Amino acid sequence: MFDFQYYAPTRVVFGKEAEMQVGDLVKMYGGNRVLVHFGGQSAIRSGLLDRVKESLDAAGIFHVELGGVVPNPHLGKVREGVQLSKEHGVDFILAVGGGSVIDSAKAIAYALADPENDVWELFAHTRNAKGCLPLASVLTIAAAGSEMSNSCVITNELTGEKRAYDDDLSRPKFAIMNPQLTATLPDYQTQSGCVDIMMHTMERYFTNGGNMELTDELAEGLLRTVIKYAKVLHEDPENYEARAEIMWASSLAHNGLTGCGNDGGDFASHLLEHEMGGMFDVTHGAGLAAVWPSWARYVYKEDLHRFVRYAEKVMGVVREDQMTDEDMALAGIAAMEDFYHSIDMPVNMSELGIHPTEEQILEMAASCARAVGGCIGSAKVLHEEDMIKIYKMAL
Ligand code: NZQ
Ligand code: ZN
Repeated sequence: MFDFQYYAPTRVVFGKEAEMQVGDLVKMYGGNRVLVHFGGQSAIRSGLLDRVKESLDAAGIFHVELGGVVPNPHLGKVREGVQLSKEHGVDFILAVGGGSVIDSAKAIAYALADPENDVWELFAHTRNAKGCLPLASVLTIAAAGSEMSNSCVITNELTGEKRAYDDDLSRPKFAIMNPQLTATLPDYQTQSGCVDIMMHTMERYFTNGGNMELTDELAEGLLRTVIKYAKVLHEDPENYEARAEIMWASSLAHNGLTGCGNDGGDFASHLLEHEMGGMFDVTHGAGLAAVWPSWARYVYKEDLHRFVRYAEKVMGVVREDQMTDEDMALAGIAAMEDFYHSIDMPVNMSELGIHPTEEQILEMAASCARAVGGCIGSAKVLHEEDMIKIYKMAL
């Protein structure tokens, strides 16, 4: 087991109608002039945006709004938010939406705390953040875990680069989680979210070295729970209990809890997917489902005992006579593919609907290698040539 620090300062306000507390919460955290940041139409259509504004008004809080954040959020929208916030003396950013809106809010908050420097430099990893304005969210989709994470992922739409910047400065002050708000999601988004939640735990689970029994048990329990309720929601999208289980899982999967004592995390599947998102604008969770089976088959021999444990304790594979550890690991990966198919998620890029050319594969691998400074991975350390092979396996 490795030494670790666990830092999860975000207050969680969970349950029905929790969004009505937003005004008081912003006040409690010192917000006086708020940028309300949101995505396309969903928060307007559901009436959520109006309820949030009512609550802010009732608390006597000035607010200005900026919508239009797209999935795989753009740097251009971040710059627009910075400009608007400066004009109105904004001191608190409130994201009403999912990972994309929260990440856009985080980037605006970084930029406002350091107006002299270009915020993209954080994502290009040429400097670190000096500060971050306080921010919080009213969550509308269980997926990215950005509501409690220290991570922020932005796409530079001019270059097609999708890049992450991780810093505890951006951990949100509070997260309002009303599972009912997620009931309007299209099934594809619900299921992509479930894949992403699982992947945040699996990235920390498939590591070499360290490992702590309690962390493993928490991770396996979380994964089994998400598998169970993803299937329930596929059939019964209005099921409140299932929505609640998945929503809480989204936060716990990416606030560090399921990695304590492990070797930091693998995160190769995530970085491989970010290139697919940057180039083809795919939905993040579905992109992960499309690349994970190929990644798993490429690396499993170097982390065999973890793949065997996963097969047994998460996928419920029963070892039959004559089955070797390798057979068990491969059976676990195949069971995962069956699960993805059962919730209409892809297991390769063709099922995802993208068909990268040889040239595009080489470009994605080169860009991924650049983004990670040469190599990435814990289950197996991957270099550019490995990334090319995995992309090709995933076609
Ligand atoms: O824009 P609207 O109209 O709101 O539609 C959104 C969007 O099209 C829709 N939606 C959200 N809530 C809804 C709803 N539709 C109906 N009813 C609701 N209640 O769902 C679509 C997807 O939203 P998005 O915010 O993009 O989803 P998600 O939370 O999956 O975020 C994905 C982004 O987060 C990044 C991903 O790379 C991607 O850019 N990630 C961020 C992380 C972090 N900051 O910690 C970690 C993750 O690994 C991930 O990389
Ligand atoms: Zn993710």
